[in-house]
Amino acid sequence: MSAAENDNYTVEDLFSLSGKTALVTGGSSGLGLIMAKGLLQNGVRVIIASRSKEKCNMALSELEKYGECVAIAADVTDSADRKALVSKIEKEFGRLSILINNAGANWGAKLEDYPDAGFAKVMDTNLNAVFSLTRDLVPLLEKAASADDPARVINIGSMDGIHVPIVQRVPTFAYSASKAALHHLTRSLAVDLARRQITVNAIAPGFFESRMTDYVFENFKQDIEDDCPLHRVGKPEEMVGIVAYLASRAGAYTNGTVIPVDGGTSISKGRRSWTD
Ligand SMILES: NC(=O)c1ccc[n+]([C@@H]2O[C@H](COP(=O)([O-])OP(=O)(O)OC[C@H]3O[C@@H](n4cnc5c(N)ncnc54)[C@H](OP(=O)(O)O)[C@@H]3O)[C@@H](O)[C@H]2O)c1
Repeated sequence: MSAAENDNYTVEDLFSLSGKTALVTGGSSGLGLIMAKGLLQNGVRVIIASRSKEKCNMALSELEKYGECVAIAADVTDSADRKALVSKIEKEFGRLSILINNAGANWGAKLEDYPDAGFAKVMDTNLNAVFSLTRDLVPLLEKAASADDPARVINIGSMDGIHVPIVQRVPTFAYSASKAALHHLTRSLAVDLARRQITVNAIAPGFFESRMTDYVFENFKQDIEDDCPLHRVGKPEEMVGIVAYLASRAGAYTNGTVIPVDGGTSISKGRRSWTD
Protein backbone atom coordinates (compact mmCIF):
# COMPACT_ATOMS: atom_id res chain seq x y z
CA MET A 1 0.00 0.00 0.00
CA SER A 2 1.46 3.39 -0.93
CA ALA A 3 1.76 6.15 1.66
CA ALA A 4 -0.94 8.12 -0.17
CA GLU A 5 -3.52 5.33 0.29
CA ASN A 6 -5.99 5.67 3.12
CA ASP A 7 -6.71 2.35 4.84
CA ASN A 8 -9.16 3.84 7.31
CA TYR A 9 -12.35 2.01 6.36
CA THR A 10 -14.52 3.25 9.20
CA VAL A 11 -17.89 4.57 8.08
CA GLU A 12 -17.01 7.95 9.62
CA ASP A 13 -13.95 8.32 7.41
CA LEU A 14 -15.19 6.55 4.28
CA PHE A 15 -18.38 8.57 4.08
CA SER A 16 -16.99 11.85 5.43
CA LEU A 17 -18.15 14.99 3.62
CA SER A 18 -16.50 17.42 5.95
CA GLY A 19 -15.00 20.57 4.41
CA LYS A 20 -16.79 20.18 1.07
CA THR A 21 -18.94 22.78 -0.67
CA ALA A 22 -22.23 22.07 -2.46
CA LEU A 23 -24.89 23.69 -4.60
CA VAL A 24 -28.37 22.19 -4.38
CA THR A 25 -30.74 23.56 -7.04
CA GLY A 26 -34.37 23.47 -5.94
CA GLY A 27 -33.03 23.35 -2.38
CA SER A 28 -35.91 25.40 -0.99
CA SER A 29 -38.38 22.51 -0.64
CA GLY A 30 -38.98 18.77 -0.89
CA LEU A 31 -36.03 16.51 -1.69
CA GLY A 32 -33.68 19.46 -2.25
CA LEU A 33 -34.33 20.81 1.24
CA ILE A 34 -33.77 17.34 2.73
CA MET A 35 -30.48 16.85 0.86
CA ALA A 36 -29.28 20.35 1.81
CA LYS A 37 -30.06 19.62 5.46
CA GLY A 38 -28.22 16.29 5.32
CA LEU A 39 -25.15 17.89 3.75
CA LEU A 40 -25.09 20.71 6.32
CA GLN A 41 -25.39 18.21 9.19
CA ASN A 42 -22.25 16.57 7.82
CA GLY A 43 -20.05 19.67 7.66
CA VAL A 44 -20.70 20.74 4.06
CA ARG A 45 -21.09 24.45 3.21
CA VAL A 46 -24.23 24.67 1.11
CA ILE A 47 -25.78 27.07 -1.38
CA ILE A 48 -29.43 26.47 -2.21
CA ALA A 49 -31.05 28.05 -5.25
CA SER A 50 -34.66 28.26 -6.40
CA ARG A 51 -36.88 30.81 -8.18
CA SER A 52 -38.86 32.18 -5.24
CA LYS A 53 -36.95 34.52 -2.92
CA GLU A 54 -39.58 33.95 -0.26
CA LYS A 55 -39.20 30.15 -0.38
CA CYS A 56 -35.41 30.54 -0.36
CA ASN A 57 -35.57 32.70 2.77
CA MET A 58 -37.95 30.33 4.54
CA ALA A 59 -35.68 27.39 3.78
CA LEU A 60 -32.62 29.36 4.84
CA SER A 61 -34.10 30.11 8.25
CA GLU A 62 -34.51 26.35 8.80
CA LEU A 63 -31.16 25.32 7.29
CA GLU A 64 -28.99 27.90 9.07
CA LYS A 65 -29.44 25.91 12.28
CA TYR A 66 -27.37 23.08 10.83
CA GLY A 67 -24.37 24.88 9.36
CA GLU A 68 -23.11 27.46 6.88
CA CYS A 69 -25.78 28.00 4.23
CA VAL A 70 -26.48 30.64 1.59
CA ALA A 71 -29.75 30.94 -0.37
CA ILE A 72 -29.87 32.52 -3.82
CA ALA A 73 -33.05 33.21 -5.79
CA ALA A 74 -32.37 31.98 -9.33
CA ASP A 75 -34.31 30.37 -12.16
CA VAL A 76 -32.08 27.63 -13.58
CA THR A 77 -33.80 27.93 -16.97
CA ASP A 78 -32.77 31.59 -17.28
CA SER A 79 -29.25 32.16 -18.61
CA ALA A 80 -28.79 35.51 -16.84
CA ASP A 81 -29.82 33.95 -13.51
CA ARG A 82 -27.45 31.03 -14.10
CA LYS A 83 -24.59 33.41 -14.82
CA ALA A 84 -25.30 35.37 -11.61
CA LEU A 85 -25.53 32.12 -9.65
CA VAL A 86 -22.16 30.89 -10.92
CA SER A 87 -20.47 34.18 -10.07
CA LYS A 88 -22.02 34.23 -6.57
CA ILE A 89 -20.73 30.71 -5.93
CA GLU A 90 -17.29 31.79 -7.11
CA LYS A 91 -17.42 34.75 -4.72
CA GLU A 92 -18.72 32.72 -1.72
CA PHE A 93 -16.72 29.49 -2.14
CA GLY A 94 -14.11 30.00 -4.89
CA ARG A 95 -14.79 26.39 -5.93
CA LEU A 96 -17.49 23.74 -5.82
CA SER A 97 -17.09 20.11 -4.65
CA ILE A 98 -20.68 18.89 -5.19
CA LEU A 99 -23.35 20.01 -7.66
CA ILE A 100 -26.80 18.53 -7.08
CA ASN A 101 -29.05 19.22 -10.07
CA ASN A 102 -32.37 18.72 -8.30
CA ALA A 103 -34.73 21.52 -9.46
CA GLY A 104 -37.54 19.90 -11.37
CA ALA A 105 -40.99 20.43 -12.84
CA ASN A 106 -43.85 18.20 -13.98
CA TRP A 107 -46.91 18.56 -16.19
CA GLY A 108 -49.78 16.12 -16.42
CA ALA A 109 -52.49 16.14 -19.10
CA LYS A 110 -54.24 13.81 -21.55
CA LEU A 111 -52.43 13.49 -24.87
CA GLU A 112 -54.95 15.57 -26.82
CA ASP A 113 -54.77 18.39 -24.24
CA TYR A 114 -51.02 18.32 -23.62
CA PRO A 115 -49.69 21.81 -24.49
CA ASP A 116 -46.40 22.42 -26.30
CA ALA A 117 -45.59 25.07 -23.71
CA GLY A 118 -46.00 22.55 -20.87
CA PHE A 119 -43.81 20.02 -22.64
CA ALA A 120 -41.14 22.67 -23.29
CA LYS A 121 -41.21 23.94 -19.71
CA VAL A 122 -40.58 20.48 -18.28
CA MET A 123 -37.78 19.71 -20.75
CA ASP A 124 -36.23 23.10 -20.09
CA THR A 125 -36.18 22.66 -16.31
CA ASN A 126 -35.41 18.95 -15.99
CA LEU A 127 -32.95 18.56 -18.86
CA ASN A 128 -31.73 21.67 -20.69
CA ALA A 129 -30.97 23.66 -17.52
CA VAL A 130 -29.03 20.75 -16.04
CA PHE A 131 -26.83 20.63 -19.12
CA SER A 132 -26.23 24.40 -19.18
CA LEU A 133 -25.60 24.84 -15.45
CA THR A 134 -23.26 21.85 -15.28
CA ARG A 135 -21.29 23.14 -18.28
CA ASP A 136 -21.02 26.61 -16.71
CA LEU A 137 -19.90 25.24 -13.34
CA VAL A 138 -17.14 22.97 -14.68
CA PRO A 139 -14.36 25.51 -13.96
CA LEU A 140 -15.42 25.78 -10.29
CA LEU A 141 -15.88 22.00 -9.99
CA GLU A 142 -12.45 21.48 -11.50
CA LYS A 143 -10.92 23.73 -8.86
CA ALA A 144 -12.25 21.41 -6.13
CA ALA A 145 -11.34 18.20 -7.95
CA SER A 146 -8.41 15.83 -7.58
CA ALA A 147 -7.67 12.25 -8.67
CA ASP A 148 -8.17 11.02 -5.08
CA ASP A 149 -11.27 13.11 -4.45
CA PRO A 150 -13.10 14.01 -7.65
CA ALA A 151 -15.72 16.76 -7.73
CA ARG A 152 -19.21 15.25 -7.98
CA VAL A 153 -22.23 16.06 -10.11
CA ILE A 154 -25.37 14.34 -8.86
CA ASN A 155 -28.43 14.59 -11.10
CA ILE A 156 -31.83 13.88 -9.61
CA GLY A 157 -33.56 11.73 -12.21
CA SER A 158 -36.59 9.57 -11.48
CA MET A 159 -37.84 6.01 -11.63
CA ASP A 160 -40.27 7.50 -14.19
CA GLY A 161 -37.30 7.81 -16.53
CA ILE A 162 -36.90 4.01 -16.26
CA HIS A 163 -40.51 2.86 -16.49
CA VAL A 164 -43.72 4.50 -17.74
CA PRO A 165 -45.59 5.91 -14.73
CA ILE A 166 -49.28 5.02 -14.41
CA VAL A 167 -50.15 5.39 -10.72
CA GLN A 168 -51.21 9.04 -11.02
CA ARG A 169 -53.67 8.22 -13.87
CA VAL A 170 -52.80 11.44 -15.73
CA PRO A 171 -50.02 11.00 -18.33
CA THR A 172 -46.80 12.94 -17.75
CA PHE A 173 -45.21 12.59 -21.19
CA ALA A 174 -42.59 15.31 -20.83
CA TYR A 175 -41.58 14.32 -17.31
CA SER A 176 -40.67 10.70 -18.11
CA ALA A 177 -38.98 11.71 -21.36
CA SER A 178 -36.98 14.44 -19.62
CA LYS A 179 -35.83 12.07 -16.85
CA ALA A 180 -34.87 9.29 -19.29
CA ALA A 181 -32.87 11.87 -21.26
CA LEU A 182 -31.30 13.15 -18.03
CA HIS A 183 -30.17 9.62 -17.19
CA HIS A 184 -28.44 9.37 -20.53
CA LEU A 185 -27.01 12.88 -20.29
CA THR A 186 -25.52 11.70 -16.98
CA ARG A 187 -23.66 8.94 -18.82
CA SER A 188 -22.31 11.17 -21.58
CA LEU A 189 -21.21 13.89 -19.14
CA ALA A 190 -19.53 11.22 -16.98
CA VAL A 191 -17.43 10.05 -19.90
CA ASP A 192 -16.52 13.61 -20.91
CA LEU A 193 -15.75 15.01 -17.46
CA ALA A 194 -13.77 12.04 -16.09
CA ARG A 195 -10.54 13.46 -17.55
CA ARG A 196 -11.11 16.57 -15.45
CA GLN A 197 -11.60 14.48 -12.27
CA ILE A 198 -15.34 15.16 -12.09
CA THR A 199 -17.74 12.24 -11.69
CA VAL A 200 -21.38 12.41 -12.80
CA ASN A 201 -24.10 10.12 -11.47
CA ALA A 202 -27.88 10.17 -11.23
CA ILE A 203 -30.26 9.13 -8.48
CA ALA A 204 -33.64 7.85 -9.69
CA PRO A 205 -36.00 8.27 -6.72
CA GLY A 206 -39.31 6.50 -6.36
CA PHE A 207 -42.11 8.24 -4.46
CA PHE A 208 -41.10 10.62 -1.65
CA GLU A 209 -43.37 13.11 0.05
CA SER A 210 -43.05 16.63 -1.43
CA ARG A 211 -45.06 19.42 -3.00
CA MET A 212 -44.67 17.68 -6.37
CA THR A 213 -46.28 14.49 -5.03
CA ASP A 214 -48.99 16.14 -2.86
CA TYR A 215 -51.80 15.32 -5.27
CA VAL A 216 -50.84 11.73 -5.96
CA PHE A 217 -50.20 11.01 -2.26
CA GLU A 218 -53.58 12.42 -1.38
CA ASN A 219 -55.43 10.39 -3.99
CA PHE A 220 -53.42 7.24 -4.71
CA LYS A 221 -51.18 6.49 -1.72
CA GLN A 222 -52.45 2.92 -1.47
CA ASP A 223 -51.68 2.28 -5.16
CA ILE A 224 -48.19 3.71 -4.74
CA GLU A 225 -47.56 1.30 -1.87
CA ASP A 226 -49.07 -1.64 -3.73
CA ASP A 227 -46.87 -0.89 -6.72
CA CYS A 228 -43.69 -1.06 -4.60
CA PRO A 229 -42.20 -4.42 -3.56
CA LEU A 230 -41.43 -2.89 -0.13
CA HIS A 231 -45.01 -1.59 0.06
CA ARG A 232 -44.07 1.91 1.21
CA VAL A 233 -42.81 5.30 0.05
CA GLY A 234 -39.26 6.57 0.53
CA LYS A 235 -37.95 8.16 3.72
CA PRO A 236 -35.86 11.38 3.76
CA GLU A 237 -32.77 9.61 5.16
CA GLU A 238 -32.77 7.29 2.17
CA MET A 239 -32.08 10.27 -0.12
CA VAL A 240 -29.42 11.68 2.21
CA GLY A 241 -27.75 8.26 2.43
CA ILE A 242 -27.29 7.84 -1.31
CA VAL A 243 -26.03 11.42 -1.63
CA ALA A 244 -23.50 10.80 1.16
CA TYR A 245 -22.27 7.70 -0.69
CA LEU A 246 -21.97 9.43 -4.07
CA ALA A 247 -20.32 12.56 -2.64
CA SER A 248 -17.79 10.86 -0.35
CA ARG A 249 -14.58 8.78 -0.66
CA ALA A 250 -16.81 5.69 -0.68
CA GLY A 251 -18.35 6.74 -4.00
CA ALA A 252 -15.29 8.21 -5.71
CA TYR A 253 -15.02 5.36 -8.27
CA THR A 254 -18.73 5.28 -9.07
CA ASN A 255 -19.22 7.15 -12.34
CA GLY A 256 -21.94 7.36 -14.98
CA THR A 257 -24.48 5.34 -13.02
CA VAL A 258 -28.22 5.77 -12.48
CA ILE A 259 -29.12 4.48 -9.03
CA PRO A 260 -32.80 3.80 -8.35
CA VAL A 261 -33.93 4.56 -4.78
CA ASP A 262 -37.47 3.29 -5.16
CA GLY A 263 -37.91 0.14 -3.08
CA GLY A 264 -37.69 -1.88 -6.31
CA THR A 265 -40.73 -0.26 -7.95
CA SER A 266 -39.08 0.38 -11.32
CA ILE A 267 -38.04 -3.26 -11.76
CA SER A 268 -41.25 -4.92 -10.64
CA LYS A 269 -44.87 -5.09 -11.62
CA GLY A 270 -45.87 -4.41 -8.01
CA ARG A 271 -47.66 -6.63 -5.53
CA ARG A 272 -49.33 -9.72 -6.83
CA SER A 273 -51.08 -12.48 -4.90
CA TRP A 274 -48.07 -14.81 -5.32
CA THR A 275 -45.59 -12.31 -3.80
CA ASP A 276 -47.34 -12.04 -0.41
N1 LIG B 1 -40.84 13.64 -4.70
C1 LIG B 1 -40.73 12.55 -5.42
O1 LIG B 1 -41.38 11.54 -5.16
C2 LIG B 1 -39.76 12.51 -6.58
C3 LIG B 1 -39.60 11.29 -7.24
C4 LIG B 1 -38.70 11.23 -8.30
C5 LIG B 1 -37.96 12.34 -8.67
N2 LIG B 1 -38.15 13.52 -8.02
C6 LIG B 1 -37.34 14.67 -8.45
O2 LIG B 1 -36.80 15.31 -7.32
C7 LIG B 1 -36.59 16.69 -7.63
C8 LIG B 1 -37.20 17.54 -6.53
O3 LIG B 1 -38.61 17.39 -6.56
P1 LIG B 1 -39.54 17.48 -5.26
O4 LIG B 1 -40.40 16.29 -5.25
O5 LIG B 1 -38.72 17.81 -4.08
O6 LIG B 1 -40.48 18.71 -5.70
P2 LIG B 1 -40.75 20.15 -5.07
O7 LIG B 1 -40.98 20.08 -3.61
O8 LIG B 1 -41.80 20.73 -5.94
O9 LIG B 1 -39.37 20.92 -5.29
C9 LIG B 1 -38.96 21.42 -6.52
C10 LIG B 1 -37.91 22.48 -6.25
O10 LIG B 1 -37.39 22.95 -7.48
C11 LIG B 1 -37.45 24.38 -7.49
N3 LIG B 1 -37.58 24.79 -8.89
C12 LIG B 1 -38.57 24.46 -9.78
N4 LIG B 1 -38.33 25.03 -10.96
C13 LIG B 1 -37.16 25.73 -10.83
C14 LIG B 1 -36.39 26.55 -11.69
N5 LIG B 1 -36.77 26.77 -12.96
N6 LIG B 1 -35.26 27.12 -11.22
C15 LIG B 1 -34.86 26.92 -9.94
N7 LIG B 1 -35.55 26.16 -9.07
C16 LIG B 1 -36.69 25.58 -9.52
C17 LIG B 1 -38.64 24.74 -6.60
O11 LIG B 1 -38.56 26.03 -6.00
P3 LIG B 1 -39.18 27.38 -6.69
O12 LIG B 1 -40.63 27.15 -6.91
O13 LIG B 1 -38.86 28.46 -5.70
O14 LIG B 1 -38.41 27.56 -7.96
C18 LIG B 1 -38.45 23.68 -5.50
O15 LIG B 1 -37.48 24.13 -4.57
C19 LIG B 1 -37.21 16.93 -9.00
O16 LIG B 1 -36.20 16.89 -9.99
C20 LIG B 1 -38.14 15.75 -9.16
O17 LIG B 1 -38.38 15.44 -10.50
C21 LIG B 1 -39.04 13.64 -6.98
